[in-house]
Amino acid sequence: MRFELPEPAKEAQAHSLRLQAHIREEIDNAGGWIPFSRYMELCLYTPGLGYYSAGLHKFGAEGDFVTAPELGPLFARTLAHVFCKRLEGLGGGVIIELGGGSGRLAADALAQMEQLGCLPDAWMMLERSADLRQRQAETLQQSVPHLLDRVQWLERIPDQPWPSGIVFGNEVLDALPVEILRLDHTGVLQAGISKDTQGMQWHWQPAPAALSETFQQRIGPQAPGYTSEICPLLPDWIQALGSLLHQGYWLFSDYGYPRNAYYHPQRHQGTLQCHYRHRAHEDVLFWPGLQDITAHVDFDALAEACQAAAMHVDFIGYQGEFLLQNGLTQVAQALLESPDMSADQINIINEIKQLTLPGEMGERFLFLQASRLQGTA
Ligand SMILES: C[S@@+](CC[C@H](N)C(=O)[O-])C[C@H]1O[C@@H](n2cnc3c(N)ncnc32)[C@H](O)[C@@H]1O
Repeated sequence: MRFELPEPAKEAQAHSLRLQAHIREEIDNAGGWIPFSRYMELCLYTPGLGYYSAGLHKFGAEGDFVTAPELGPLFARTLAHVFCKRLEGLGGGVIIELGGGSGRLAADALAQMEQLGCLPDAWMMLERSADLRQRQAETLQQSVPHLLDRVQWLERIPDQPWPSGIVFGNEVLDALPVEILRLDHTGVLQAGISKDTQGMQWHWQPAPAALSETFQQRIGPQAPGYTSEICPLLPDWIQALGSLLHQGYWLFSDYGYPRNAYYHPQRHQGTLQCHYRHRAHEDVLFWPGLQDITAHVDFDALAEACQAAAMHVDFIGYQGEFLLQNGLTQVAQALLESPDMSADQINIINEIKQLTLPGEMGERFLFLQASRLQGTA
C-alpha cells in the first residue's frame, strides 16, 4: 500500500516525474490508452529514464531487491560446475548470459570456471540496459580483470549463431512485459493505463479476440473477476534465443509456477509485483521508474516455447532441488574448508538456507533446462 512505502528523495521524484511526462505523452499519441505491457516496458526500459535504463541502485542490500547471485558466491559457483560439465559434453563453446544485472554472477562463475580449468571460449553478456552494461564491466574489471578479454557485450540478439554453448538467465523472464487480463460477465477485459488529471490510472477495455482466447484456455473455468497475466512476448523471445546456438543448453531460473498453480483459483489476483527498497507491493502506479515491476513465469508456457524453438526440455523443478542435485553442498563445503573463508561461515550457511529452503528461494524459484544436441533436434 502506497502510504507504507518510503518516500523517494526529491531528486528521485523529479526523475520519476520526467518519465511520467514521457508516458503521458505516449498515451496522448496512442489515442488516450496504452496496454499494460507497454506501460511496463516504458517504466522499466525507457532510455535514460526507465528503472533498468537509469543509474539507480537496484541490486543488493542498498537497492530494491536481492537476487540469488547477489546473496554470495554459492549460486554462481554451483552454476559454474554445471556450465563446465555441459561445455565438456559439447566439446567447448560460449556462455551467453541474459540480463546479467550487476555482473556479479559472471564474475563469480568465471573465477570458478578458471579454477576448474574449463573457461568458456567467450562469455557474452546480452543486456539491453546501457547503464547495466557499464556496471557489469566495472564489476568484472574489479573482480577478474585478467578474464575481461573473454567477455563481450551484446545489446540485442545477433543474427549469426554460435556453434555450441549455453544460454543462461536468472530473473530475466520475470522482467518481460506482460498483459493483464480479467474475466468479466461480458467476456475478457484487458488492462491498460490512461491519464487522469494528476497522473495516470488503470483503464480496462475488451481484450482482442486472440488474447481473450489464449487467456480463457489457460485459466479454464474461473469465477468472474479472475485476473492474471500472459506474456505474449515469450514465444518470440525464446525462438530468438533458440537461434543463438546450433547446439547447446538453455537454462532459466525465475519466480514461477507450472500452469495449474499459476492459474489456480486462489491466485485470482495474478502474480504482478513491484519491488521498492525491499518491500514487495502491487501498486504499479507508485513513482514509475523508481521501482521494479515483475510477473511470475508460467513454466508450461516457457516449456512450450522451448519445444517450439526445437529444444528438448530436460528438467523443470525447484531451484533448491536443481542446486542440490548439481553440487551446492560440495561447493559450500569447499568454501567452508578454505582457510581464508572461516569468518564467513555464518554467511555461507545463511546463503544455503536462502537458496534452498522452500519458504525462501528454494521453491519460489523454478529452474528449466532445455537442450538441442546435434543429432537429436
Ligand atoms: C531482475 S534483473 C536480474 C539480474 C541478474 N540476472 C541477477 O540475477 O542478479 C533483470 C535483468 O534483465 C535485463 N533484461 C530485461 N529484459 C531484457 C532483454 N530483453 N534483453 C536483455 N536483458 C534484459 C535487465 O536489464 C536486468 O539486467
